[in-house]
Amino acid sequence: MLRPYKLALGKTFCTYSHSFFEETLADTLTDILIIGGGIIGLSLAIELKLRGANVTILNRDCQEAGARAAAGMLAPQAEKIPPSPMLDLCLQSRALYPKWISKLEAISELTAGYWPCGILSPIYQEEKIVYNQQSTLKSEWLDQDAIHQFQPGLGAEVIGGWWYPDDGQVDNRALFKTLQVVARKLKIDIYEELAQEIVRRDRQVLEVKTFSRKFQANHYLLATGAWSNDLLPIAVYPKKGQMLSVCLPYPCARERLPLQKVLFGDEIYIVPRQDGRIVIGATSENVGFTSGNTPSGMKALLTRAIRIYPELQHYPIQEFWWGFRPETPDELPILGSSYWDNLTFATGHYRNGILLAPITAMMIADLIEQQKSDPLLTYFHYGRTFM
Ligand code: GLY
Repeated sequence: MLRPYKLALGKTFCTYSHSFFEETLADTLTDILIIGGGIIGLSLAIELKLRGANVTILNRDCQEAGARAAAGMLAPQAEKIPPSPMLDLCLQSRALYPKWISKLEAISELTAGYWPCGILSPIYQEEKIVYNQQSTLKSEWLDQDAIHQFQPGLGAEVIGGWWYPDDGQVDNRALFKTLQVVARKLKIDIYEELAQEIVRRDRQVLEVKTFSRKFQANHYLLATGAWSNDLLPIAVYPKKGQMLSVCLPYPCARERLPLQKVLFGDEIYIVPRQDGRIVIGATSENVGFTSGNTPSGMKALLTRAIRIYPELQHYPIQEFWWGFRPETPDELPILGSSYWDNLTFATGHYRNGILLAPITAMMIADLIEQQKSDPLLTYFHYGRTFM
């Protein structure tokens, strides 16, 4: 059960009863403290702030977050998520995207690169053609002739593929920037400090310590992705993803780009941006938090990418990078109430953090603000991963 909770509208800090906060006054008091300033933490902070809460974010400055191991695909169908509560969650989130992005773009006056461009999943001779089980969703099987006509330039080994017109993409870096600007415009306090410890007693969180101060809040939200297990005993582990980008070697108007849709093959995706960049990802490695790009990671990605779309071998390489997805044992996110009455989880989004940002923000804000628990949340309860 969530602790009954009243939002303090319009105040910077709330006044709390002394007994709740123990003897020591924190350096920083807030209404809701969000631990984690990645895509999920920012989306939640903005949603809660727009509903009138006072929100503070505690953010480690992290260049390796899960959002970095992403190309921003909105791909519940291409990711072949089987019919399940997870698929329902992903589809609901995909449906929220257009309005959510419009709202963020209106506040920030930036563009987040949302592009409902569809995703094409080519397959090769040796792969099994698995017939699409999601019969209520839009998809189309394209045979060899049809797929090569539909997307010129595919590798000669492609013998067909699925077309998912309702999947799409968002430029995850542009989205992150947009969220940061919205948070600033809404005057959400963001502290660039690493949470060292979540101090608990019985079923209450008492405070969060960083190197330099303590934070106390009426409610705490854990959105620390792959690093969640550093703070609380939940089963979230890093799954490294290496990525790279190339760019078109010639200037090209947006409507004449040779790739106008995402290509999603076996262990490879090729995501064209509207400015001519092409993002290629991603490896999936159990190497803990080992940083860096490796020759074998890059070789694997380039080999697979060139096999699907051979023209890429001539494109200039722009950048290599990597990030850590927050994986859970069943690959499902951990959402909702926790063992501690005043702490909520929004973590473990694994391969779908960008896709799930809007639905996570809506459902978790409903839960914290109105104690309204969407029935879907029961499938993502922390209990299955508590160690
Ligand atoms: N969402 C794609 C990935 O995690 O690689």
